[in-house]
Amino acid sequence: MDTTNRVAPTAKTPALILEPDEYSMAKAVLSLHQGLLVAFPTETVYGLGADACDEKAVASIFAAKGRPSHNPLIIHVKDLATAQRYGHFDELALKLAEHFWPGPLTLVVPRLEGAGLSPLVSAGLATIALRGPANKVARLLLEGFEGPVAAPSANRSGLLSPTEAEHVEEMLGDQVSLILDDGACERGIESTIIGFERGSAIVLRSGSLPVEQIEAVSGIKMQAADTASSPDKITAPGQLSSHYAPNAQLRLEATSAGEEELMLAFGPDAPKGRPGVNLSPTGDLVEAATNLYAYLHLLDDTGVETIAVMPIPDKGLGVAINDRLRRAAALRPDDEE
Ligand code: TXA
Ligand code: MG
Repeated sequence: MDTTNRVAPTAKTPALILEPDEYSMAKAVLSLHQGLLVAFPTETVYGLGADACDEKAVASIFAAKGRPSHNPLIIHVKDLATAQRYGHFDELALKLAEHFWPGPLTLVVPRLEGAGLSPLVSAGLATIALRGPANKVARLLLEGFEGPVAAPSANRSGLLSPTEAEHVEEMLGDQVSLILDDGACERGIESTIIGFERGSAIVLRSGSLPVEQIEAVSGIKMQAADTASSPDKITAPGQLSSHYAPNAQLRLEATSAGEEELMLAFGPDAPKGRPGVNLSPTGDLVEAATNLYAYLHLLDDTGVETIAVMPIPDKGLGVAINDRLRRAAALRPDDEE
């Protein structure tokens, strides 16, 4: 047998990119068992997965992303029963998980000790972020692996989240052993993160699940993280102001684009005649959320210096879209003197 082309699947060899089938799913499960990194689709964005009980594998997530180790990861599980092995769900958390899982909702709950999770995974916090994703391939992976899978978004730290396998390959192609390619993510924007404090619920990150829907089911008003009254309030480091940034500068609330700019338009009133893309020509916020990262990647890849972004209504999914746009427009740490 000719073995000249056979290379051990170390982290430094280019990633295999495979569409989901029986072979690739079996390979993905085995790779997780071997302590390797596997990028996989979720309904929100692609995740960079590792066995959440394997300290070395979890450490390699932080290394691959260039992510500071004080920023904890989300643990993905196949169902609520698995989640309850690792975190304590009170009545309100249970209600939300039962209603919205599988789906784009992450719940931050008290961490149960002695359950075998890597200490690194929640960065030394007493809480843990858990989510049961809805994407079929993610679910097959979690059912095949059975255990908990730690998975942040599969981008380099501080850069745009990936909504297509190609985005993962561009940023982390030499760091992962396998990328499961399921095409474009259905929702295109990260999960909504909810934390709990003394009977109230706090929005730690707005996301794919509009807060209004969570309020309707829970019957209580969600608090914004920065207005939470508690002095020891919990925060998601993803709230750092310059997360989700493209290389280009963003000019928000633009009604037209200058000579040197490309336009990120929204709705039927987009100015004609300037090159660019429209997040949703009909003004549909769900469509705009799905397209947001993919279109930012697209415009950014042209090397343009400034992207002119039209205003987006601040309701429903528009809240999460505007949150990401504001962060993308903020100064990066590298830009500061
Ligand atoms: O849609 C998503 O949530 C995607 C897909 C892959 O599931 N994942 C994702 O993960 O966006 P990541 O790591 O990029 O963002 C997770 C956020 C971070 O801002 C982190 O600080 C926060 O969750 N987080 C994790 N554990 C936490 C905890 N115990 N307390 C507060 N925030 C936490
Ligand atoms: Mg992320």
